[in-house]
Amino acid sequence: MQVLLFFEMKNNPIGIFDSGIGGLTVAHAIQEKLPNEQLIYFGDTAHLPYGDKEPYSIKHYSTEIAKFLLEKKVKLIVIACHTASSVAFKEVSKVVGNRALVLNVVDPVIAALQKLRDPEHLVGIIGTKGTIGSNIYPHKLSKLNKSLKLACLETPLLCPMIEEGFINDQISQTVINTYLSEKVLKNITHMVLACTHYPLIKAQITHYYKGNINIIDPSEVVAETAKNLLKEANLLRKESSGLDHHFYVSDYTQSFEQSTRYFFGEKVTLEKGNIWS
Ligand code: DGL
Repeated sequence: MQVLLFFEMKNNPIGIFDSGIGGLTVAHAIQEKLPNEQLIYFGDTAHLPYGDKEPYSIKHYSTEIAKFLLEKKVKLIVIACHTASSVAFKEVSKVVGNRALVLNVVDPVIAALQKLRDPEHLVGIIGTKGTIGSNIYPHKLSKLNKSLKLACLETPLLCPMIEEGFINDQISQTVINTYLSEKVLKNITHMVLACTHYPLIKAQITHYYKGNINIIDPSEVVAETAKNLLKEANLLRKESSGLDHHFYVSDYTQSFEQSTRYFFGEKVTLEKGNIWS
């Protein structure tokens, strides 16, 4: 565990970032689990989607956002994006050093998957080109649970589709069905939603499988891990009074505002995070 330089950080906020609205699923789970904590969210809508970008670009965006969040004096940075967690965790951790804790969204899922020991299990993993192409899941699991079989599939249309608000409609169900009917996913017993946007279409994925498989939404386990990290570092905030969450975007989008209000209520106003201008 990282040792923080400053011990009087209990009341400081938690910083969370993603390319867009996906990380709000994680932010929401963290708010539910840690209602006393103040959240500072950054959605890098100017560079969305991350999934198709070069690792070099994602590392650059992620480290700049981490610096922005550090200026806001965050005590913990949650990389609420599988793509950035897969390719930029090391770089973000290096930039942050001992000024804050850093949590990615992949490791908590790996910790949950390594407990699956039934030889009948076949775990589907769907994510962006960046996440699946990084091979992070097979790579990490090959060291911890060699017998677990994985079926990985890139599903690059899903993030832009969700970001554009195509959810719970016929167009999105057709796209989802097309991906899920790919041969590689045949006979899966579990599915990891390895992109933080995908919990927003969990109902449609469940509909496709008619409840016959176990769908793993990482938000819950990530929120639990965030809680444990803060607890171990003695950084849990005690009181919820005066909480004022902030939501920054690098480009204003209407769907971002709608989604933020959906998760955090009507009073939310988006702020422009001027990192790139
Ligand atoms: N929600 C993100 C992820 O978990 C980003 C997807 C994207 O921007 O392509 O990978």
